[in-house]
Amino acid sequence: MYRFILALVLLVCEGTSRKIPKDFKFGTSTAAFQVEGAWNVSGKGESIWDRFTHSHPELVRDHSNGDVACDTYHEWREDIEILKDLGVDFHRFSLSWPRILPDGFARRINPDGVRFYNDFINKLLKNNIEPLVTLYHWDLPQRLQDLGGWTNPDMAVYFEEYAKIAFELFGDRVKRWITINEPHSFCEFTYGYGHGAPHIFSPGIGDYLCGKTVLIAHARAYHLYQREFKKSQGGKIGISLDTNWAEPMTNSTEDIKAAERQLEMEFGWWANPIFSNTGDYPEVMKQRVDERSRLENFTISRLPALTTDEIKMIKGTADFLGLNHYHTWLVGDHDFPIDGEPSHEKDMGIKSRQDPNWKPSPQIVPWGFRKLMNWIKEKYNNPLVYITENGYGDISEALEDHDRVTQIKLFIQAVMDAVEKDGCNVKRYTYWSTLDNMEWSLGYTVKFGLYHVDFTSPNRTRTPKLSAKTFKDIIRKRQL
Ligand code: NOJ
Repeated sequence: MYRFILALVLLVCEGTSRKIPKDFKFGTSTAAFQVEGAWNVSGKGESIWDRFTHSHPELVRDHSNGDVACDTYHEWREDIEILKDLGVDFHRFSLSWPRILPDGFARRINPDGVRFYNDFINKLLKNNIEPLVTLYHWDLPQRLQDLGGWTNPDMAVYFEEYAKIAFELFGDRVKRWITINEPHSFCEFTYGYGHGAPHIFSPGIGDYLCGKTVLIAHARAYHLYQREFKKSQGGKIGISLDTNWAEPMTNSTEDIKAAERQLEMEFGWWANPIFSNTGDYPEVMKQRVDERSRLENFTISRLPALTTDEIKMIKGTADFLGLNHYHTWLVGDHDFPIDGEPSHEKDMGIKSRQDPNWKPSPQIVPWGFRKLMNWIKEKYNNPLVYITENGYGDISEALEDHDRVTQIKLFIQAVMDAVEKDGCNVKRYTYWSTLDNMEWSLGYTVKFGLYHVDFTSPNRTRTPKLSAKTFKDIIRKRQL
């Protein structure tokens, strides 16, 4: 009888709660420009986002900037208290390149910037929180932008030099590095759509040039680490790539192909050269951009080719794939005429929209996330994946953020399904973001934080939302 009751209790519990695997880790994330503030304090150089927000406030939704942001540069001790309270295993944050190297070049290091990151890293470690450090999260030193930024192939060398300084300064304590965050976002949204810094609009050309330099920069940093640091420091190094999940709009062959094409041309643009056996851009991407470029009277493809040597150099350059994911879209085939400005969107030949009928909401589609993890598993031979960003943005100041609570539970559930039921090799989940912060061209209007930040108060008062409690409970109990 006793056994029967126990079995019944276990059965009921299994239906309502779920254990998190022992080796699975949780963290939260931020990025330097979005939280640090102190934009020109203690020797920091100007970044392209400082320049952009100062010279084009009208292009930021609330005309704001990152001059103070969450003031993490001064309030970092409180941020670590928050992380302690959340009970995270690790914290993902980025180094500001111009805070360490004010003009971008490795010849001049800013000691105050180094001290800031040393203090931060040491305090994290003292509290058993592992630092997961991103080298580049979009705040390029303005001086390097003046030389062409990411469309200048030499930027890959300057990035490698910066990476070297970071490995030398912090690599004795930092064992997980992300070279670059969301190349698709910063190459495509800026050059491709003209949003944000460096405010250069060159769709279907600048975005592809930026993309190639980024791939080489990443690979250079990876090889440098293997050559000079791996043996003594023993860390892992990867890259964070973002994509929505693309669900075919209908069952037609055209729409099914279009959805696959979108994934290949947004995510595969980066993932294929690094994680696939071919080590090149996806075939469909090369074909489509080549063909359209020819029809548009370009003498070479707008997509700069990777040479055999470059392919060899880029292939296999990641110990883990950082996945940033937020949304699912319905994607269908769309034939764009060859006229006017070229663009990546026209090259892809797709149209997309969200479905207003999705439950619990068009913004919260956990099954898309699970499908994406499975797609990556099939496509790239089940690589080690860290979810380096997932979150929920809204415009509400409410501390009772029930939608975010729902999103967190359902998305972590989706990760657990992908791991336990589908065999996806996912080992970490990182919530974006610890704090409400400066959401690039949307300013402070859209909030992603587990903690509310009062941007009108002098010390940027942080207050936990309901979602902070939810996340904390999941981590503490290690169950859903
Ligand atoms: C993408 C970026 O990495 C991060 O900076 C941004 O704030 C979030 N996702 C939310 O949009």
